[in-house]
Amino acid sequence: MKKKALIFGVTGQDGSYLAELLIKKRYVVHGVKRRSSSINTGRIDHIYQDPHIKNRNFILHYGDITDSLSVTRLINQIKPDEIYNLAAQSHVQVSFESPEYTANADALGALRILEAIRFNNLEKKTKFYQAGTSELYGLNEKTPQNENSHFHPASPYGVAKLYAHWITINYREAYKIFASNGILFNHESPRRGETFVTQKIVQAMCKIKMKKQKILYLGNLYSKRDWGHAKDFVKAMWLILQQKKPNDFVISTGKQTTVKNFVNLVASHLKMKLKWKGKGIKEKAIDENGKVIVACDKAYYRPLEVNSLLGDSKKARRALGWKPQVKINELVSDMVNMEFKRNSY
Ligand code: NAP
Ligand code: GDD
Repeated sequence: MKKKALIFGVTGQDGSYLAELLIKKRYVVHGVKRRSSSINTGRIDHIYQDPHIKNRNFILHYGDITDSLSVTRLINQIKPDEIYNLAAQSHVQVSFESPEYTANADALGALRILEAIRFNNLEKKTKFYQAGTSELYGLNEKTPQNENSHFHPASPYGVAKLYAHWITINYREAYKIFASNGILFNHESPRRGETFVTQKIVQAMCKIKMKKQKILYLGNLYSKRDWGHAKDFVKAMWLILQQKKPNDFVISTGKQTTVKNFVNLVASHLKMKLKWKGKGIKEKAIDENGKVIVACDKAYYRPLEVNSLLGDSKKARRALGWKPQVKINELVSDMVNMEFKRNSY
């Protein structure tokens, strides 16, 4: 019998890579997508299987993490061996604009799945993975951050994810459910959403190079992130559920880069020469023709900034045998190359 996995958030960056990985591992993968007025399956269209095909190994269902009935019904119907909860309003800045929705989806979403496992008497069968985040550390800038570091979330997103983290541990301790948290540091890819900073930089710099855009506006250039490749990170999610016992793991590359340096890496990949001038909100990058191509706009600053995230993933490297393969230069090159492939500038 093939194992059955259920992925909430299958249409997202990580959901699409995880679905590919599990299909390769011969799982039958069930994915939950939300109803949307425009098509939201761009990242999984290449693995889509028509419902008329027999013995499909990739099956999509409508559902929503804020709708207990759909969550409970799907879990009852599928009785999965593994559930991956990747569904979330995942944008930190947007969480300041939609805090209540973010709490509903990102905090209570995890609770709904855990409660559905219990309600359907699947405590002994179904393993649960919760997509936790380095945003839990927030204002705790004592780096590197590991599983024992103090949590101090700095956004409605981070606070909602803190609830999801603890409710996962609570259901593991109270009901003996195999429920684990991955505390993942930032991971990017050509499939990254367009409003996250790496993809925003890649797309804008390619357009500027091809004279289709004039200026890229950014917020905090000095924010430091530990950026890995999503392809590497979904492998860790699977490994976390293959352990003998449930546990929580930090997943990170252990290397930090500033937003400004990410711009420099993309520019150098595109063979563009940049000179930085000015300070604070007035800082700008000027190209070889003397034109300003990067500038700051306070609209992209957050009410609270998380300045420094850097993960210590020794525990995962030892216990899971996991280590990231893709270096930041390769990540940049993968994202830039795909941007050119996707567009005929
Ligand atoms: P993403 O690209 O934004 O994908 C989020 C997924 O959740 C999408 O499939 C989205 O559906 C779905 N979703 C949102 N609200 C939902 C709802 N109410 N009901 C059902 N599905 C819903 O995020 P990602 O980068 O793949 O991240 C995956 C998970 O890991 C998220 O929980 C995120 O918070 C967490 N995380 C990400 C990172 C990172 O650096 N990428 C790091 C740590 C933790 P639509 O496609 O319809 O919008
Ligand atoms: N999005 C964005 N847009 N961020 C900017 C910009 C801009 O124009 N300018 C500077 N930044 C800075 C942000 O302030 C932040 O410090 C950093 O760039 C990264 O921002 P994002 O790419 O939006 O990601 P994030 O770190 O806030 O959140 C991502 O990583 C978390 C894990 O640490 C998301 O994927 C979260 O879902 C995830 O949990």
